[in-house]
Amino acid sequence: MTSLDNQARAILRKNDRGGYTVPTAGLYPYQWNWDSAFAAWGFATFDLPRAWQELETLMAAQWEDGMVPHIIFHKSDPGYFPGPEVWDTSQSPATSGISQPPVAATLTRLIWEEDQAFGRARLEALYPRLVNWHRWWHEMRCGHGPVAITHPWESGRDNCPDWDIGMAGVDGSQVGEYTRRDTGHVDPSMRPSKAEYDRYIAMVQFGVKVGWDQARIVADGPFLMADPGITFILLRAHEDLAVLGRALGQDVSEIEGWALALRNALPLIWNADLGSYDAKDLRSGRFAGVLGSGAFLAYLAGAGNPELDAQLMRVWNAVGFGIPSADPEAAIFDPRRYWRGPAWPVVNALMAIGLRDAGRGDLEARLRAETAALIERHGFYEYFDPTDGTPCGGHDFTWTAAIWLTWAGRNLEQAKGAA
Ligand code: GLC
Repeated sequence: MTSLDNQARAILRKNDRGGYTVPTAGLYPYQWNWDSAFAAWGFATFDLPRAWQELETLMAAQWEDGMVPHIIFHKSDPGYFPGPEVWDTSQSPATSGISQPPVAATLTRLIWEEDQAFGRARLEALYPRLVNWHRWWHEMRCGHGPVAITHPWESGRDNCPDWDIGMAGVDGSQVGEYTRRDTGHVDPSMRPSKAEYDRYIAMVQFGVKVGWDQARIVADGPFLMADPGITFILLRAHEDLAVLGRALGQDVSEIEGWALALRNALPLIWNADLGSYDAKDLRSGRFAGVLGSGAFLAYLAGAGNPELDAQLMRVWNAVGFGIPSADPEAAIFDPRRYWRGPAWPVVNALMAIGLRDAGRGDLEARLRAETAALIERHGFYEYFDPTDGTPCGGHDFTWTAAIWLTWAGRNLEQAKGAA
């Protein structure tokens, strides 16, 4: 074990609030959905019972309709906005009213594979909850074919350029006064702008107005876009969930049906003019016309193709430090502003799983070496400037520590040799 392994473990322990982990102290003081799934994967490298517990606290916050919310506000913290009183979802524990990328089944499968001897009872308890959540995605978000999101935050890639055309149609002028907290924790130039924030809050206020009726939000809400990122993540997760179901002796034909329907919908998010998968505004039918990291999650779902391969190499070779979240050769590229350019270790880790499964072990090794170098040089930051490696956002970040333990820091010498 290296000293970085020790530091990564210490970060997971330090961010543990008793059964759940916060992404980082201060900036993100609650339990976030996909962060928590990654935290579980990280814990699984040294404390399997704690890994299962992380998934259990996440899935325990599931709504009656099957949704697993993007934030669970276990204990109120005035340092975060918008908090439970703004979301006003009447859930207990209090939660937000949207979901987040469903990586949980995929990571549960990886944890289960490490713990088949003792994990069965815990998997058996989690499995129906995962199935209900996937059914919720299918029924509430896949009516147009690919996965639709009702708020940019649902994508997990909050302010990426994919959402600009949908955001343009949202009226943020009537949201009233509020105080942001994020810009008090990190450099405002790295965070979304005030105009963007007003629109984010307007979408939350719409959800409150309709009592978080998801069908109404999809039908009449201010924002509805197809997200390639979640589409690929969910497709992969359906397949992993089916593997888990079979291991438990369950009938998985319903899950297989969801996966087939989603795979059949992929042509709807292929933008031939762009030469890539692309986000689409489902109100107008228009493509976003921007290449983002959501497209490269296609590898995770076995949906790569030669044109996408060429795009990947173009954007990756244009920077030097991981795969950028937006196209470095496009005007909208902003190398330090969150999802508008930076490289995110956690997304690199997902793309790496896909590249490896696509038989591109050479690219997986390169991505691992670049991600590891960023962490070795600078520490466990939230994300990095892909043009010069500058660390950005919050530090001592849970999911960066987790992917160090599970992927970036593993077989490091081998990965560097192959790069
Ligand atoms: C930001 C990210 C989101 C993440 C959350 C907590 O909102 O965009 O993906 O889950 O922070 O880390």
